[in-house]
Amino acid sequence: MSSTLFRTKKVEQSILDTEEPEHALKKSLSALDLTVFGVGVIIGTGIFVLTGAAAKTHAGPAVALAFVVAGVVCALAALCYAEFASTVPVAGSAYTFSYASLGELPAWIIGWDLVLEFALGTAVVAVGWSGYVASLMDNVGWHMPEALGTREGAEGFGFDILAAALVLVLTVILVLGMKLSARVTSLVVAIKVTVVLVVIIAGAFFITADNYKPFIPEAKPQEAGRSLESPLIQLMFGWAPSDFGVMGIFTAASVVFFAFIGFDVVATAAEETRNPQRDMPRGILGSLFICTALYVLVSIVVTGMQHYSRLSVDAPLADAFKATGHPWYAGFISFGAAVGLTTVCMILLLGQTRVFFAMSRDGLLPRFFSRVHPRFRTPHRPTILLGVLIAILAGFTPLQELAALVNIGTLFAFVVVALGVIILRRTRPDLHRAFRTPWVPVLPIVSVLASLWLMLNLSAETWVRFAIWMAIGFVVYFIYGRSHSRLGRHEETTLAEVMKPARGDEE
Ligand code: ALA
Repeated sequence: MSSTLFRTKKVEQSILDTEEPEHALKKSLSALDLTVFGVGVIIGTGIFVLTGAAAKTHAGPAVALAFVVAGVVCALAALCYAEFASTVPVAGSAYTFSYASLGELPAWIIGWDLVLEFALGTAVVAVGWSGYVASLMDNVGWHMPEALGTREGAEGFGFDILAAALVLVLTVILVLGMKLSARVTSLVVAIKVTVVLVVIIAGAFFITADNYKPFIPEAKPQEAGRSLESPLIQLMFGWAPSDFGVMGIFTAASVVFFAFIGFDVVATAAEETRNPQRDMPRGILGSLFICTALYVLVSIVVTGMQHYSRLSVDAPLADAFKATGHPWYAGFISFGAAVGLTTVCMILLLGQTRVFFAMSRDGLLPRFFSRVHPRFRTPHRPTILLGVLIAILAGFTPLQELAALVNIGTLFAFVVVALGVIILRRTRPDLHRAFRTPWVPVLPIVSVLASLWLMLNLSAETWVRFAIWMAIGFVVYFIYGRSHSRLGRHEETTLAEVMKPARGDEE
């Protein structure tokens, strides 16, 4: 049994699968497309929304350091992702990589985990978008009825209609084709980056140095009764759970980590890249670097404009401008954020459907989902199915808790990918690697430890939810995936083929 659980899919087979016409995606993306694609998904709810809460409740102005910490964790993981993506250039990101190196069960675990990351991530961003659109509508005097607004902090029954509508519209765009989406993405990314630059440049003129004192606020015990909401690491070691101080920087890092999610999504598009070996590492590392620099600057500026204790948690960037008496900038920023979040949502949705597609192509999920549309050549079936489910999820769920769940899932994927690099170097040293992770195995090991560290800084509650999701995944795998796996069946077919000539000889 253990041999089937750890059967690996040959890298060559993964690449061959992408060439079957009925299951093949179009190869049309360049390094620039990928970087735009990366920046398009990376800058989003993390910087536009979570910065406020992270500074206000966990780190104060030192949230800038939290971004550095999260950025370093991501850079380490990115170096591992880049090697994998340039070695196994097919759809599905960490899922495919693990199938080639660690075996079927770990691949299933990671695929299931990525479904969580991308589906919930899409929902989180859609809800964040809906909040910004509602705030823009308020500016012109239109008000959403409460039952149709965001669920964050809302009471009673309600459905966030804007968030759900966004997901459905994006689903249609994705079904119509990748190229169209990439073009839309470029335009929106330009708007989003402009807004971020405006925050940095204009905001720099409104900084008050006193707001940085103290830069790292003193540690403060958490209110009693919040134990499950405390970082697991504090509970594990029996430390009195606290906010702020040096530990607060790490707690904040595990929250704002969400702001970096997305560079790994770039890797899911490897199969649609013209020259994945060269362009994939450039796309991943390039977009990650640009975003880290922007985040650090934005958080320094915003916490300098307004004292961290007064930052807003819904729209901190725009509200800091309002607080300094510049509502016009605030309107512009809200507009840009709303536009920008659309692409984030779209790309997460795209990443999601590609992972699902790859798992279905391998037979771990029904093969029905991996037939591409005859005209648009997109995996329309998983796109539509998941689009509808995510729209419902976005309609009903508040976002903060979901964001933490997305973070833990992504960090877990980082751990698996880093281990995968080490294992694949041993099991397949012969493979051509256009990009090689430096200092193997030291760097991947440091990457594993860094990701685990951030995971431990997430709340105990988040760990419980994550464990439940993964347990469901195990059940699905053992009931469906294991027996339908194409790799498993291929092994049986190969055996049957070996037997055939023997029978022929007898006739
Ligand atoms: N990094 C993306 C965001 O912050 C997911 O919205």
